[in-house]
Amino acid sequence: KKRIGILTGGGDCPGLNAVIRGVVTAAIIKYDWEVVGVEDGFDGLLNSEKCRQLSLEDVRGILPRGGTILGTTNRGNPFSYPVEKNGKIEYIDISESVIDRIKAMGIDALVVVGGDGSLKIAMELMSKGVPIVGVPKTIDNDLMETDVTFGYNTALETATDALDKLHSTAESHHRVMIMEVMGRYAGWIALESGIAGGADVILIPEIPFDIKKICHAIDERRKKGSRFSIIVAAEGAFPDGGKRVVKQNADSAHSIERLGGVGEYIAGELSGCLDMDVRVTVLGHLQRGGSPSTFDRCLGSRFGVKALELIAKNEFGRMVCLNGRSIKSVSIEKAVRKLKLVDPDGEMVKCAEELGIMLGR
Ligand code: F6P
Repeated sequence: KKRIGILTGGGDCPGLNAVIRGVVTAAIIKYDWEVVGVEDGFDGLLNSEKCRQLSLEDVRGILPRGGTILGTTNRGNPFSYPVEKNGKIEYIDISESVIDRIKAMGIDALVVVGGDGSLKIAMELMSKGVPIVGVPKTIDNDLMETDVTFGYNTALETATDALDKLHSTAESHHRVMIMEVMGRYAGWIALESGIAGGADVILIPEIPFDIKKICHAIDERRKKGSRFSIIVAAEGAFPDGGKRVVKQNADSAHSIERLGGVGEYIAGELSGCLDMDVRVTVLGHLQRGGSPSTFDRCLGSRFGVKALELIAKNEFGRMVCLNGRSIKSVSIEKAVRKLKLVDPDGEMVKCAEELGIMLGR
């Protein structure tokens, strides 16, 4: 009987439980294999108490649940593991002990569900002989080689819903409402929720913005009778010629840079040039929480089932992906080579501009 390990790494994301359920169910029912659930990402591989066999009972009723029943963390990169030495944090390579643990648990193949950071770690483990398949996960939708990642659709629904709500209060109070959304270096959440939520201005990291032009656009709207405006700003958006505000994520083993504060920055600038009330909403982790949408439950389930098919065919080093309407696979290496960003001259940006939305340029 084969034993499959599964772990979820990096930030959580709606739909993770659908993947876990897909893997466990297909393993037990279709292949008659065992599944070991590893808690808290790669960190769990170091501790036998964090590894437990998963039964059908364990995954019953988890489809509508947000988060991950296995837990996750950004810590625990086995190639750069934080240890305290003389009051200082040092990063050491403990991959050999991780590989020993995988062998000791009798794990024949590992399913790594994660974003670019976790999948890069997966590739390194693969190169040391661990058979791995990857499942792409991120609300940011910034992974190459898959049309979308699960979690993105739910995050978009949350952001669009928030924009609908901001509209009514913006209109009543004749205010400029700025909503800051997540996305790291990518503007996908801002762009798509902004189009769906009828934003007047959308700011994304891929198009550095000109604050004077934003001010002018909002003033023009006001002169034409629109007494309120809605701005969606991706957390990674930054002014033309300026610098993004980059915060280092202390919890991160693969140095995800945390971007923040752009909403407040824009509010400060606009308050200085407009005679209007400006308010900021930072949507934050609400975008990562909650029950996954139908789309994400289905995509997560299909990814989980496909991951097992790859293991059955001994196709390791591959990542499952969505290509059009079909679930396929690509090499993990190809998928993590660079991030998938919004094309500033692409169809979606042009569409937004033709809808009269200002993109900050
Ligand atoms: O990558 C997902 C994401 O939610 C980004 O959009 C965001 O910048 C980051 O993670 C937040 O990380 P943390 O939960 O560690 O604050």
